[in-house]
Amino acid sequence: MKIVVLAGGTSTERDISIMSGTGICKALRQKGHQAVLVDIFCGTENVDWADPFPEEYDVDQAVEYMKSFNPQIETMKAERRSFFGPNVLELCQAADIAFLGLHGANGEDGKVQAAFDLMGIKYTGTGYLSSAIAMDKCMTKEFFLANHVPTPKGATLTGENGFDTDLSVLGLEFPVVVKTSCGGSSVGVYIVNDQKEYEEALKEVSIYGNEAVVEEYIKGREFSVSVVDGKAYPIIEIAPIQGFYDYKNKYQAGSTVETCPAHISQELTDKMQDLAVKAAKALKLEAYSRLDFLMKENGDMYCLEANTLPGMTPTSLIPQEAKVLGMDYPQLCEELIRCSMK
Ligand code: DAL
Ligand code: MG
Repeated sequence: MKIVVLAGGTSTERDISIMSGTGICKALRQKGHQAVLVDIFCGTENVDWADPFPEEYDVDQAVEYMKSFNPQIETMKAERRSFFGPNVLELCQAADIAFLGLHGANGEDGKVQAAFDLMGIKYTGTGYLSSAIAMDKCMTKEFFLANHVPTPKGATLTGENGFDTDLSVLGLEFPVVVKTSCGGSSVGVYIVNDQKEYEEALKEVSIYGNEAVVEEYIKGREFSVSVVDGKAYPIIEIAPIQGFYDYKNKYQAGSTVETCPAHISQELTDKMQDLAVKAAKALKLEAYSRLDFLMKENGDMYCLEANTLPGMTPTSLIPQEAKVLGMDYPQLCEELIRCSMK
């Protein structure tokens, strides 16, 4: 197949996306596909248009090219009219599918998906509406509540000029978790224990946008379950050696113990997998997604959120879950394409 792997972009998860895209592109080429890695925002120069998928295409060179744009992104954003970089749309239209190795804003939030729908470009992952709902943690909570998917008790904060600092009006008590509404990779997530920390967190979180979520802090074990083609993959337990599963613990090898399949009873496994499928249905997620959970000691489970373009770096979770099913990384990439083309 001819596949354009899109990565990079302008979100806070740009670097992670470059790592996901690199892995995906190399794996697809290993499987004999004509795959190229392209930064969706910076575009590409080094693809030969007479033969846009050359055998000798160098993925590492593409990565170097993507990295070289990092410092200029803000200037380019201010100057540019189109989010799509040079040649990106033409290349995607010439391909069989665009593999979205993107994460976060302008990639995982439905905008690219909607544009591609209008242009007749096939892409991996769920459609524009479910992407948009899942990217918004406030909306996700509403959909979970309406569909009886247990989720931590919480409230949405909105404010053009910062957020109201009175926690009691929300019916919540410390400790709480403060999150930006549309973040990823735990960028903009704070666990706070008192009023001082709360006010600091609200200030920090306002940098990311005018909406934030505050929710009860659930003390428990962390898990994640991918749902691919309507079925739950094996559950993975995530136990950071220090603190919570924040950006550093997510991407620094050795800082988190990940166990798959998770060491929990069959009964709890079934319950969490059923909940993951139910949560994916509640958000109308198609193709594939990864749902994050917390479980209290008494077995009560809470679905935190859905990731519609889950990380595909070497330390990411979905490749580890697939491995338990006997699927290696390149096979997983092909499976994600297969279920997205249905
Ligand atoms: N947002 C990151 C990439 C994840 O969910 O894996
Ligand atoms: Mg997540």
